[in-house]
Amino acid sequence: MNTPSHTHTIDSRDDANERARQSTMLSPRFYTTDFDAFDRISVEGMRSQWDAMMQEYEGDNNHDHFQRDEAFQDELSAAMSKWSPELRQELFDFFVSSLTSEFSGCILYNEIRKKIENPDIQQLMTYMARDESRHAGFINQSLRDFGLNIDLGELKRNKHYTYFKPKYIIYATYLSEKIGYARYITIYRQLERHPELRFHPIFRWFERWCNDEFRHGESFALIMRANPDLLRGMNLWLIRFFLLAVYATMYVRDHQRPILHNAMGLEATAYDYEVFRITNTITEQVFPIALDIDHPEFRSGLEHLLQIARAHEAAKDRGGLVGNLQRAWHAGRALVAFTRLYFVPVKTQAVLAEPRLRPTW
Ligand SMILES: [Fe+2]
Ligand SMILES: [Fe+2]
Repeated sequence: MNTPSHTHTIDSRDDANERARQSTMLSPRFYTTDFDAFDRISVEGMRSQWDAMMQEYEGDNNHDHFQRDEAFQDELSAAMSKWSPELRQELFDFFVSSLTSEFSGCILYNEIRKKIENPDIQQLMTYMARDESRHAGFINQSLRDFGLNIDLGELKRNKHYTYFKPKYIIYATYLSEKIGYARYITIYRQLERHPELRFHPIFRWFERWCNDEFRHGESFALIMRANPDLLRGMNLWLIRFFLLAVYATMYVRDHQRPILHNAMGLEATAYDYEVFRITNTITEQVFPIALDIDHPEFRSGLEHLLQIARAHEAAKDRGGLVGNLQRAWHAGRALVAFTRLYFVPVKTQAVLAEPRLRPTW
């Protein structure tokens, strides 16, 4: 089923900005939190690793990476003449949603930095905000090529902010940074094998780009390892929840862009399971549990959730009283499907002795 889930296409700067501002279950969110709690986070338990990591950030090996090279424009011009209208739309949607999540990190890290005095966390937030602002800016240039650039100041002022407890921010940030790495590296490796499928030059930047995301995730791994209460007891139920929420959202979202994945020679389901596999391996550095992504009920449950999301989308497009009733019905079904997925048995694993990993995928 190849129907794009958005009935509205991105044809103008207003459309792009509206898409970025949108708040749905699936669109990237902006977050706010309890900043005082961030002020109290201690990394003493991991001091030597922490200091080594700060040295890496300080070294800033990507300081000159996010600039276009001379070949960029020619490659883009040659490639875009071959895009189908559907691919064009899915690519714009991919850019807008990627930019929104990069910028979401940038805003949150900056806010934490401004509102705390804890020198360790403040230093980390400064580096992470620096990186995310480069990432967001680089994607925005690619939207600007089509007159679709996002007004970041306006977005910052007008998008809805979701409050997350600090603990939730830690789990969600760790996971989204690591998944971000796994997503970008999987695309990069695929296009390295098949350069003829690289339909936009921006994908050449993904390797060094995702090393930033990997390091961001490492920082949160150290924060959790320095505060091991976050990794045991009842918190395991929370970790399980965040793992599933992040994986399920990604699965539904990626299946809304089948043409984009096909253009890279990837298929959304196989691509997502590859990303899950990499993420599961990485998370052995912190989590004593992992979702059992090969469990038949996990696979069928995700697929079921996707079908419900599509039915929900169709009801939304239908509108009116019937459409609204259908939406409520499908929302209830989604909750049941999610709950069943939540109780699919998880795998337990031994947490790695060494807290740091290298991005070797
Ligand atoms: Fe980023
Ligand atoms: Fe990041």
